[in-house]
Amino acid sequence: MPQLAQRVGRAKPSAIMVIASQAKQLKAAGRDIISFSIGVPNFLPGEHVYAAARAALEHDSGQYGSNRGAEPLLDAFLKHVEALGFSGYGHANLAVGIGAKQVLYNLAEALLDEGDEIAFAAPYWTTYRDIADIVGAKANVLHCGPEQNYKLAPAQLDAALARKPRVFLFNNPSNPSGMVYTREEIAALAEVLAKHPDTWIVTDDIYNSMVFDGIGYHNFVFARPELKDRLVLVDSVSKTYGMPGWRVGLMAGPEAVARAITTLNSNHITSVPEVITAAAVAALSGPQDVPLARCAEFAQRRDIVVAALNAIPGVSCPRPQGAFYAFPDISSAFGKTHRGTRISNDVEFCAALLEAKGVACVPGSAFGEPRAMRISYTCPAAQLQPGLQRIQEFFTELV
Ligand SMILES: Cc1ncc(COP(=O)(O)O)c(C=O)c1O
Repeated sequence: MPQLAQRVGRAKPSAIMVIASQAKQLKAAGRDIISFSIGVPNFLPGEHVYAAARAALEHDSGQYGSNRGAEPLLDAFLKHVEALGFSGYGHANLAVGIGAKQVLYNLAEALLDEGDEIAFAAPYWTTYRDIADIVGAKANVLHCGPEQNYKLAPAQLDAALARKPRVFLFNNPSNPSGMVYTREEIAALAEVLAKHPDTWIVTDDIYNSMVFDGIGYHNFVFARPELKDRLVLVDSVSKTYGMPGWRVGLMAGPEAVARAITTLNSNHITSVPEVITAAAVAALSGPQDVPLARCAEFAQRRDIVVAALNAIPGVSCPRPQGAFYAFPDISSAFGKTHRGTRISNDVEFCAALLEAKGVACVPGSAFGEPRAMRISYTCPAAQLQPGLQRIQEFFTELV
């Protein structure tokens, strides 16, 4: 058999999917499993989204659509980004993709040549690492541990940008930590970014509708408008509207970047299908009560999760202020034994927890922080407390 391309060898199967499929197998074998592993919303979009999709199906042209994105979708996204606080964009600044993931791949192809450096903070969304590997870029991972609440400090960013990376990739609110940068923190990082004009800035802010405690969503361009010339916002309907399977992502940024993404779309995907487009337009421009209600619910769940985790001796969980993740530091368990099984790292911890208690969490090393594990708290409400209790029990049984 001929050889596969080297880039495929660099791509690794997602650690999140590995643990999720182990949990699925145990469930199929009759085990009582509570999954805190996959980061998907536990709700569906409002009926108006389905009505729009059905209506679009009635009138579907069956044709290829615009490479950039259909006009009504660009209109709806433009209003959405304006509501977030961005200004001065037109259709020429926008482009669609098959989910934010594909937008990010497109951006990597558009902005990075082989060997270029891309800087991003750890813990990071697993795919960032893979995107860098696949396009042959060098990842400069900026470690931001639990002692700094998993947040990037201005001095760290300054040192990283002194190396003149081609791209700085930023994620706020964060998957996996749920951390949200305040207005002041964003302004301090924006000051640093303004000093380093050679670097593209990509802000993956797909959880922007899920921010708690009234701290609001902030972006570097709100603090330093001149960054708009080299900043790209990535957004998606997946988490905000409970539509991960509909696969619509979007970007707003400099015209040259949006044009490049449009050209790549013409080669990769051609267009987002008409029916899907109509659903995304309805989600973005229709009533916003679903995301608002879910954000309030996730804030309540966050309180329950953080209280339960911090009540465990030896566990500390910085308080997330967005998305639907918690990222406790579990490293006090390393070196201990659970019912004869020795736990020396996060992967062994999560495997033992799943085996002994039927609770699936994702090892932090998948996100570049091996002292922690990710809990995604979008499970059915009735499973939340029992799942947390099982984690507490597991810890008390460690020797
Ligand atoms: C930070 C972050 N960016 C991007 C994505 C991808 O989103 P989409 O479903 O739009 O591809 C995810 C999905 O988990 C994510 O957590």
